[in-house]
Amino acid sequence: MSDATNNPADDALSTPSNKPSNAPPKAASNALLNEQQAPLTKRLERYKKFIKKSKPTAAGRLTRVVGLTLEAVGCRAPLGSLCHVETMGEGITAEIVGFSDDCIFLMPSESIHGVLPGARVVPLMHEVGIPVGMELLGRVIDGAGRPLDGLGPIITEHEATNKVTPTNPLNRRPIKEPLDVGVRAINSVITVGQGQRMGLFAGSGVGKSVLLGMMTRGTTADVVVVGLIGERGREVKEFIEEILGEEGRARSVVVAAPADNSPLMRLKGCETAATIAEYFRDQGMNVLLLLDSVTRYAQAQREIALAVGEPPATKGYPPSVFAKLPALVERAGNGGEGQGSITAFYTVLTEGDDMQDPIADAARAILDGHIVLSRELADSGHYPAIDVEKSISRVMPNVTTDEHQMLARQVKQLYSIYQQNKDLISIGAYTAGTNPEIDIAIQLMPALNEFLQQGMTDVIGYEECLANLAHVLQPLADAQAQHQQQQ
Ligand SMILES: Nc1ncnc2c1ncn2[C@@H]1O[C@H](COP(=O)(O)OP(=O)(O)OP(=O)(O)O)[C@@H](O)[C@H]1O
Ligand SMILES: [Mg+2]
Repeated sequence: MSDATNNPADDALSTPSNKPSNAPPKAASNALLNEQQAPLTKRLERYKKFIKKSKPTAAGRLTRVVGLTLEAVGCRAPLGSLCHVETMGEGITAEIVGFSDDCIFLMPSESIHGVLPGARVVPLMHEVGIPVGMELLGRVIDGAGRPLDGLGPIITEHEATNKVTPTNPLNRRPIKEPLDVGVRAINSVITVGQGQRMGLFAGSGVGKSVLLGMMTRGTTADVVVVGLIGERGREVKEFIEEILGEEGRARSVVVAAPADNSPLMRLKGCETAATIAEYFRDQGMNVLLLLDSVTRYAQAQREIALAVGEPPATKGYPPSVFAKLPALVERAGNGGEGQGSITAFYTVLTEGDDMQDPIADAARAILDGHIVLSRELADSGHYPAIDVEKSISRVMPNVTTDEHQMLARQVKQLYSIYQQNKDLISIGAYTAGTNPEIDIAIQLMPALNEFLQQGMTDVIGYEECLANLAHVLQPLADAQAQHQQQQ
């Protein structure tokens, strides 16, 4: 193919010596040239990159299909690039995920129905970008950035790729400001900072999606990017229509890659959500990134890695899974000067409420804090079922006042004291007056429980949460003051 020198865009800007002799005077002719040719050259400009990048490509041949993995020989393209695989129909796109000698392994991004033995495999030498821009707000897209909501094509000025360029840790602004998420239990006791990466650890059906929806509607972040990865298809619609609602949707972008999508699309879904969040952050906005769930992301990578022959290591997960997790998590956080922030919540499924699951373990180590949802609380109708005793925000001391931290500690202590003595209290074996700490815990528990609960549609702002926190702990402050007076 041609290179930049014989680009048609350059031909269009031909020199005056090529002009016919009866051309209008020079100034006028330049103006005419500009008027007629500028839009054309401008339009052609965008194709220039393709002309430069185009190189002759050798098409390969499909030799084997095992499960979801396609094997091909004869084509030479780098790892991570896309290929077009011919089928009985329009053909499918597949990504190169590995190779062995001359054989390349491809993972399709859609159904492999209609693939024939010996089918042509043509490397696509251009990168397929994801549209990024304000036009994405209110839209629902798939893992490849294509609209799913039937609201027409998404035409944006910019495109981004899922290529990760690690941020220099020294260029990141420190986490200094709290982020209001509109949920009282979080704002007051597990305060999240702008640019923090939190884990939401929970088993199935204990209220993860509802909590994420509450945060989407209640947060003061400029934009919310929601990645629904590996969910049941029905749940995606439910989340968008019922949990997110019109108000939440207007300033959010939803990337959906439900369970029936190929593992590649589920993997890409998470990465696309992170790429979109990065775009908004680079525009100076504060972004809230919600990924439900990172466990499904790890499982998608496990499927791909095992299919191309990577040996399983920890509980069936190959090592690449544990390399991909920190890479994904590190994409969130504060940007450099002049950039915004990405505050992220990653849900982690603790199957059978097992907190020692390898993904939960790996995630806990790389995140800046975790919120644990308890099945016991959910079963008793306490929503959001946040176990404040087991949850922690590691950056809370950097974003809150000393007084706020003291009050949050008191809530945890009261809870812990109550839990430790719960059995005695419930069977009536505890005699009031034996221990002043237990007495005050028993006295405050109904108010504290009410304080930590919140209806699905309620939004409680940060300042109101702090006022409520001080109010609910007032009896404790009074008791302490009285105790000091007596001494
Ligand atoms: N704040 C709340 N107030 C009242 N009910 C709630 C609240 N949060 C959750 N629930 C109840 O819990 C149910 C399950 O919640 P949700 O769908 O969010 O769970 P999940 O953890 O996302 O489940 P899954 O693992 O299936 O995705 C909801 O249908 C709702 O009845
Ligand atoms: Mg859910």
